[in-house]
Amino acid sequence: LENGLARTPPMGWMPFERFRCVTDCVKFPRDCISERLFMRTADLLVSEGYAAAGYEYLIIDDCWMEKERNRITNELMPDRERFPSGLSHLSAYVSQLLITILFSVLVSACQIHNKSLKFGLYHDVGARTCMHLGPGAKGFHAIDAKTFAKWNVDYVKLDGCYVQGIDLNKAYPAFGQALNKTGRPMVYSCSWPYYQNHPNFELIKKHCNLWRFADDIRDSIASVARIMLKYYRMQQNLTKHAGPGSWNDPDMLVLGNFHLSYDASRMQLALWAVLAAPLIMSNDLQTVRPEIRALLQNRAIIEVDQDPLGIPGQCVLISNSIQVWLRPVMPTNNIGLRSFAVAFANVGNHEECPLCPLTFTIVLQDLGFTNQMGYTVYDLFDSKHILGLFKPKDEFTVRINPSGVEFYKFKPEDIY
Ligand code: DGJ
Repeated sequence: LENGLARTPPMGWMPFERFRCVTDCVKFPRDCISERLFMRTADLLVSEGYAAAGYEYLIIDDCWMEKERNRITNELMPDRERFPSGLSHLSAYVSQLLITILFSVLVSACQIHNKSLKFGLYHDVGARTCMHLGPGAKGFHAIDAKTFAKWNVDYVKLDGCYVQGIDLNKAYPAFGQALNKTGRPMVYSCSWPYYQNHPNFELIKKHCNLWRFADDIRDSIASVARIMLKYYRMQQNLTKHAGPGSWNDPDMLVLGNFHLSYDASRMQLALWAVLAAPLIMSNDLQTVRPEIRALLQNRAIIEVDQDPLGIPGQCVLISNSIQVWLRPVMPTNNIGLRSFAVAFANVGNHEECPLCPLTFTIVLQDLGFTNQMGYTVYDLFDSKHILGLFKPKDEFTVRINPSGVEFYKFKPEDIY
C-alpha cells in the first residue's frame, strides 16, 4: 500500500501468541489482556533496549473490547474493567515514551534522535472478532476508522472471522479507505489472504501494508517450520508482491517463550529476516532470558530484515534436511552486484540423523555467486567473526545444529 508507511517491515510487540485471550484479571493479574499488561510492556520495550533496536509498535490484539457497541454513538468501547483509563489514555502513555537513539556521526561526536513508541489496535472485518468477545467492523467502517483516529492509533490489524456474506475483496479495501479518509496515517495489516483459497495478491498489495498468508504461529519449531514450508510453496507469488510498503507477514516472533531452543530461536529470527518479515514479538518481555534478548536485538540481523532494497528472500536449495535461503541486500559493489544474506537451516528431519548437527558443503558459484573478486563473508550472529574471502569456485562448508541455522552475509568485493 502506497501510503508512505511501513517502508521497511514493521517491528513491535503483540500479545496474542503468548497471552491469548485471558480476561480474568483477578485470577491472572499478570497475564490478562489489560492496560497494565500494555503499560508494563511499553516500559520494558524502552528500558530493555528493544525500542532502540527498532521495535516501535505496541499492538493490542483481540479481546480488548466490550461485548457491544455504545448504544447511542455506535462506537466501539474498550472493556471498562481491564482498560479503565480508556484507549486515548493508553495511546498517549505509549507515545510519550521516548526512545533515545544515538547515532555516531564522527568518531567523537554523537547525534541524539528522539522518537516515540507507536500504538496499534486489532479489529475484525466481520460481524464479531475471532474470540467472539467484541463486535466486528461489519456495517461500521466509517465510525470505527474515526474512533481509531480519535484514539491516535498508528497501526491497525484487521482480522477476518465471522465473514459470512461478506466479500473480503471488497470489505478489506473499503475499511482501508475508511482509515485513509480520517487523514491519520495508520499502518494497515490485513489477515485477508489467510482467509481465502485463492488470494489476489495484486489487489491485496494495493490496499494493505502487510498481510498474513499462513496459519497462526505457535510456540514450537514445528510451527515455525510449517510456516517456512508454506512460504516456500508460495514463494514465487509471495516475493513478487512484497517490497517497501507491502510485506508478507508470517506471523509473530515467538522467541523468548517456552518451547524454542536457543538454536530454534536463531532459526526463527534469521528466517524472518530473510523473508523481510515484520518483526512483531509475542512474548513476556519481563521473563525473556538475556541470551534471547540479545538475539532479538542483534543489530546485524535486524539490518538484514530492514534492508532498504526491500527484496524478500527465497529458498534456493533443499538437500535432505538442509535448506539454503538467500536474500539480496545492501551494500552493492562498484559494478552493482548485491550482497546476500544467506541462511543455512537444518530443519532436523534428516533421514539418517534427524537430531544431529550436520555438515553441508557447497561451491559458491552453485549459489549464483560469480563475482571473480570474491566475497567477504560475515557471521551475522557474531559481528566479530569474519570468515574471510571466498571466490566463486571455492567450497563453503557449514556445520548446522539440529533445528538451527547458520546465517552469513556475503559481500562482493570491488572489481578494479
Ligand atoms: C486470528 C489471528 O490470525 C491471530 O493472529 C489473532 O489475531 C487471533 N485471531 C485473535 O482472535
